[in-house]
Amino acid sequence: MDFREVVEKRRSIRSFQKDDISNEIIEDIIDCGRLAPFAKNRQPWYFVVIRNKEKDAIVNIMEEWLRNADIKKYEKYIGHKSSVFGTSRVIREAPVIILIFYKKEEVWIEGDNLSIGAAIQNMILRATSLDLGSLWIRDTDSMKEEISKYVGFSDMELSSVLALGYANEFPSPRPRKNLADIMIYYKEEK
Ligand SMILES: Cc1cc2nc3c(=O)[nH]c(=O)nc-3n(C[C@H](O)[C@H](O)[C@H](O)COP(=O)(O)O)c2cc1C
Repeated sequence: MDFREVVEKRRSIRSFQKDDISNEIIEDIIDCGRLAPFAKNRQPWYFVVIRNKEKDAIVNIMEEWLRNADIKKYEKYIGHKSSVFGTSRVIREAPVIILIFYKKEEVWIEGDNLSIGAAIQNMILRATSLDLGSLWIRDTDSMKEEISKYVGFSDMELSSVLALGYANEFPSPRPRKNLADIMIYYKEEK
């Protein structure tokens, strides 16, 4: 697959087959994350791989949050509670998830977040090129402290979770804004 094809083929996948992914492939994907650009020479990322039944604890933490979350507090985030539910099902079904952590240091948060986004995108595109489906997850943000504590990373911040597996669905592309509506050639004559 050429690079443009990989970019165009990628979708968020929310239904996975049961087949596991080998450690070799997982390490290849995380290695592509490691090769992403990073701000201020920080390489702020840590990756925790969780498989099969071990994921249930993460799902339980999300379900516990759903039982207790004050709906009023989340009203302004349309559908947040239900999207947490949907995402918890995806985590349950995916054979592998990767938790992406960073060491929180107030002055570097913005740069670190951008670096981590670059790493996650590298991983997602590598997964696509290997015919794997993926879902970038941030619905775990509401219960990130509990998750960090559970995996023994209390001193770090959970940025995102990446769910990986062989796709069991083939969604059409989500609509995108037109290029002409989001870019200009500044002050260039037509
Ligand atoms: C930072 C980030 C966080 C996301 N978090 C979630 C999530 O928690 N649950 C989910 O189902 N999708 C999540 N998504 C996937 C988006 O919903 C998806 O990328 C978007 O709808 C566009 O669809 P596509 O990825 O298939 O092109 C997230 C995407 C990004 C970039």
